[in-house]
Amino acid sequence: MCGIVSYIGHRKAVPVLIEGLEKLEYRGYDSAGIATVLDGRIWCEKAVGRISVVAGRVEGKNIPSAVGIGHIRWATHGRPSDINSHPHTDCSGRFAVAHNGIIENFAELKAELQEKGHEFKSQTDTEVLPHLLEELYQGDLVGAVRQAVARLEGSYALAILSSEEPDKIVAVRKDSPLVVGLGQGENFLASDVTAILEYTRDVYILENGDMAVITADGVQLTDREGLPIQREIFHVEWDPVRAEKGGYDHFMLKEIHEQPRALCDTMAGRLKTDHVELAEVSISPETIKALPKIFIVACGTSYHAGMVGKYVIEKLARIPVEVDFASEFRYRDPMLKPEDLVIVISQSGETADTMAALREAKRVGSRILAITNVVGSSVAREADDIIYTWAGPEISVASTKAYTTQVLSLVMLALYFGQVRGTINHEEAEELFTALRLLPEQVETILEQATAIKTIADKIAQNEHVFFIGRSIDHGAALEGALKLKEISYLHAEAYAAGELKHGPLALITNGVPVIALATQDDVYDKMLSNIQEVKAREGYVIAVANEGNEDVANFADEVFYIPRTVKAASAILTVIPLQFLAYYVSLARGCDVDKPRNLAKSVTVE
Ligand code: F6R
Repeated sequence: MCGIVSYIGHRKAVPVLIEGLEKLEYRGYDSAGIATVLDGRIWCEKAVGRISVVAGRVEGKNIPSAVGIGHIRWATHGRPSDINSHPHTDCSGRFAVAHNGIIENFAELKAELQEKGHEFKSQTDTEVLPHLLEELYQGDLVGAVRQAVARLEGSYALAILSSEEPDKIVAVRKDSPLVVGLGQGENFLASDVTAILEYTRDVYILENGDMAVITADGVQLTDREGLPIQREIFHVEWDPVRAEKGGYDHFMLKEIHEQPRALCDTMAGRLKTDHVELAEVSISPETIKALPKIFIVACGTSYHAGMVGKYVIEKLARIPVEVDFASEFRYRDPMLKPEDLVIVISQSGETADTMAALREAKRVGSRILAITNVVGSSVAREADDIIYTWAGPEISVASTKAYTTQVLSLVMLALYFGQVRGTINHEEAEELFTALRLLPEQVETILEQATAIKTIADKIAQNEHVFFIGRSIDHGAALEGALKLKEISYLHAEAYAAGELKHGPLALITNGVPVIALATQDDVYDKMLSNIQEVKAREGYVIAVANEGNEDVANFADEVFYIPRTVKAASAILTVIPLQFLAYYVSLARGCDVDKPRNLAKSVTVE
């Protein structure tokens, strides 16, 4: 998730771009850059680090240009560095591009362009675009953009500037947000309105497939074929703080809603028609076939993703998996061998306990595969193989989209290992591919039912204790649901494997105690029903989460929240969404600070 700002009009562009990018820093701060046209050529200033570095470099330069594009980067392809910062330019220095998203087919485009003699400076996917434009340009920038974009697969919000036609900025949107701000004798482009609110509150919100040609005097909207289209002008009423959260009241709510996009991005370029491609995993098929054991180490929410990963990897790839708290791993003298694989999961990639566990595994000589959200983080730098979750920056302390993309990454890894090892057959693989592709859409349908969960949340918010129960993969999701609830609402929440209730925790169930019963697993559904009845017999208040079409459960539970049906391996991704909402709304009802819960930090860099 990167940020884009562009300006064309009567002001000096550079200060408008810098101020706009400062407001978008919540979208990423690995590097920043701006480009304008100066003396008939593209002029760029870009640097690793926050936008303040670029601001410092341009200070006092008083650049007169009234057109420019800017970018703030959350690294995906290519580590954070000056050279990988946007905007990217072509060999001739006539085309500059700022991009938010992922170009999935960049490797083949790059190879093709290199063969034609184009020299690439960066490791980014984006750089193919300015070179493509250089190749296609024949005196018509808009036409060249149209042809170039037709070659792209993936997601993109693009701002394109050319010294050949400095009177315009061309913008294109597919699956990454982009708004056009409308001014008087000036117009703007931004990833979200926060960046331009100071200048205008009237915007076009571009939709997938839209192109915009922005000049100082007007904005022309077309589809990909160049046919004119109409979009309503949206008048933004939000204050700047709310605008930064995309109109949501809290980052957590915004991030919950970003999950369909985050899941799409994490799958992008990896889920091929009938196989998984993990570009940054280079474990040989022979090694995968011979893997004796996998250890997963992580903390908190990432550990819970690991719990689900254990089920999925054991099921699909038939490799034994142990899951450890990173904080315990080193101290329990694990029976780790050099031929074992250690999967380290960390959203931030900087958690001290996780880093210590990683180093312990390296000391033994085991291979390390990192699942992390931050390119260039310590975990990513020290691992042998990496799967990046493309969730984008997670600001809220309570992790949401990082968890679902971690689980998705583990499912893809299990599928990959399973196919290499021959432990899943063609039909099973097909079923999984179909199910994974459907997930973003299914998450959307759950998001649409947020108010139903708010009603439940309001009912339980004033209780002292809440219990979560589930079996098999649902147990993993229950652990995560309980953590979400306790960390942001300060309500005491515990999760149990449902079969464990009768071995102790049942003593805590009395009249009206809420029990969230996850009942989405068909193979243990009857057992789960028995557990629900155990709770009801003690007058507990059962809120079930069940698959759509299950009418039976309503006979036993006090409330039922239905989620779309998916395959077992992917189920935790859907089951957790209502639990995230539940935590959010209980926290609100109890008047807690949702995004910054007491005593906690987003990245825990101390042991
Ligand atoms: C809870 C949460 C934490 C983190 C944990 C590990 O919502 O976010 O439990 O999951 O601190 O952090 P990472 O994944 O950055 O290593």
